[in-house]
Amino acid sequence: MRDLVTLENLSAQEMVNLLDLAQNMTEILDRPLKKVPTLRGKAVVNLFFEPSTRTRNSFELAGKYLGADVINVQPSGSSVEKGETLWDTALNLSEMAVDGIVVRHQVSGVPQQLAEILDIPIINAGDGSHEHPTQGLLDVLTLRQAKGRVDGLKVAIVGDVLHSRVARSDIWALIALGARVSVAGPPNLLPDTFEDLGVEVTTDLCEALQDADAVQVLRLQKERQSTGEIPSLWEYRLRWGLTKTSLKCAKPDAIVLHPGPQNRGVEIDSDILDSPRAWILQQVKNGVAVRMAVLFRLLGGGQDE
Ligand code: CP
Repeated sequence: MRDLVTLENLSAQEMVNLLDLAQNMTEILDRPLKKVPTLRGKAVVNLFFEPSTRTRNSFELAGKYLGADVINVQPSGSSVEKGETLWDTALNLSEMAVDGIVVRHQVSGVPQQLAEILDIPIINAGDGSHEHPTQGLLDVLTLRQAKGRVDGLKVAIVGDVLHSRVARSDIWALIALGARVSVAGPPNLLPDTFEDLGVEVTTDLCEALQDADAVQVLRLQKERQSTGEIPSLWEYRLRWGLTKTSLKCAKPDAIVLHPGPQNRGVEIDSDILDSPRAWILQQVKNGVAVRMAVLFRLLGGGQDE
């Protein structure tokens, strides 16, 4: 494993190794002094072509907690504004004795292409609607902490599935680790190829939630939709939003996940977001631990903490 571009090609054992390592990293996060020297002398570039709060900052903190130097590069203020291509930007940055690049881009496939042209580890921080591998890992880590296992659980992934890179990474991780997955959303936001991935696909929200141990609510990605895909936000909430009423279709102890950022009152109601059923802030904390594990594995060269 030189890069982390997708979870599709990771074996269940490789995922479990990363989850175990991330679980160990949570112990560092609970210390009053969090800095360890594991990646001292290493340099990481966060190259983000799309906005981010959780992923960019948690990669930055993960690198810093492990002792690495981390810089953030965004199109605004860089030579991208003068017309420099992504490839030239990445090539130039890689010449600055950089040990790894974390990249987020609106175009699917960009991290894979960078991995093919650069000889340093490339970590996908979300590419178009393709994948968001560290999100998939932090979601299954949160599920494992909440339920003690992943194998045999049922997870419902609901909402704007079509545009969701999170859904794809979650599905690869959950299926590999033995979970059953159902997906639900409006017909025009449900890819018809998803049944081929081994998941149950339905347009009926309650049917997807039936017997679910966890519900992953996806953000309605208004910025990726052409006009007319959703009649109105009010109607979307009525049929697809996770409300106190619709959550009753899941198991009484089902937990609620959301990758963030949330549209409160659209895909999920505030009273659920702010309830003990929501493990969403735990997902955020686990995001730092998972990114520490990934940086350690790819830049530290070790198999164990
Ligand atoms: N979950 C996630 O990718 O959030 P950000 O867009 O804030 O990084």
